[in-house]
Amino acid sequence: MKLYHVIGAKQYDRTSLEDLFVRADRMEAVVKSGGNTQFSSKIMTTLFFEPSTRTRLSFESAISRLGGKVIGTENAGQFSSATKGETLEDTIQVVSQYCDVIVMRHTDIGAAERAAAVASVPVINAGDGGGEHPTQALLDVYTIKKELGTLDHIHVVMVGDLKYGRTVHSLSYLLANYKNVHITFTAPSNVQIPPYVTEYLYAKGVSYSEETDLHAAVRAADVIYQTRIQKERFDNEEDYKLAEGKYIITEELLKHMKSTCTILHPLPRAGEIEKEVDQDPRAAYFRQARNGLFIRMALLEKCFEGIPAEKEMAALSR
Ligand code: CP
Repeated sequence: MKLYHVIGAKQYDRTSLEDLFVRADRMEAVVKSGGNTQFSSKIMTTLFFEPSTRTRLSFESAISRLGGKVIGTENAGQFSSATKGETLEDTIQVVSQYCDVIVMRHTDIGAAERAAAVASVPVINAGDGGGEHPTQALLDVYTIKKELGTLDHIHVVMVGDLKYGRTVHSLSYLLANYKNVHITFTAPSNVQIPPYVTEYLYAKGVSYSEETDLHAAVRAADVIYQTRIQKERFDNEEDYKLAEGKYIITEELLKHMKSTCTILHPLPRAGEIEKEVDQDPRAAYFRQARNGLFIRMALLEKCFEGIPAEKEMAALSR
């Protein structure tokens, strides 16, 4: 039995995504019935070197709903032996002795892959710097499927910080699994989508374009994926100010969107969606956050089952 690590969105194909959606649907029913004790012997460690509300708490809720327990730290940079100079590799090898799965958020791109290389339990990437955030993207595609009924033949508009916003990188990779998807990127000039993401889309035959006018961009959108400008990742305040406040979803903008459009945001938001928009039925970001619980329960189940075949890990190299 191989370990089921969740490192990056490229490891998923259409079949493994569908399997996850079916599990997540089942987990919603588990939550509705009050949870279960399926994994009462399991312990999950959360190692968060960066702040989090949704990811950490939804994973903690997920393991609790499945009967398991959680150990960990929400400020691993300060409250783990990393402050004494311990390497990530040593920390992971030690923590592996105490639990059955590690959920880690780290400041460095590639940290989850490094952790998985030495861990003796599954590692789940809860965000690695400006790299990827696969579990967020998994709940994003699950939400799109629930809101629109399909992931094929859709036009997705990604807005905001597309450079440092790791969720848009992972979401782009996942959308490449579906038919006739078009992605429009609308970003301030200094935080455009990185070439390595568009090169992947090109290689996969995904159609994409750039549009600087938000009004024009949203008109044909089935999904508007708004993101926060990632202030913490800028080298200086001046560059941040260039990007901040440029693209805001306002009540007025709603008039230019299709009635069937869905508005998503990984959250937290910092002013880029007006509060008044929340009342619109197309605003799905709080439903999206709830879906994170079901997807993360499904991911934990998969971690505890392991991988009976080589299939999914082979997908990592795609
Ligand atoms: N969407 C997301 O990753 O939120 P947190 O930073 O609160 O976990």
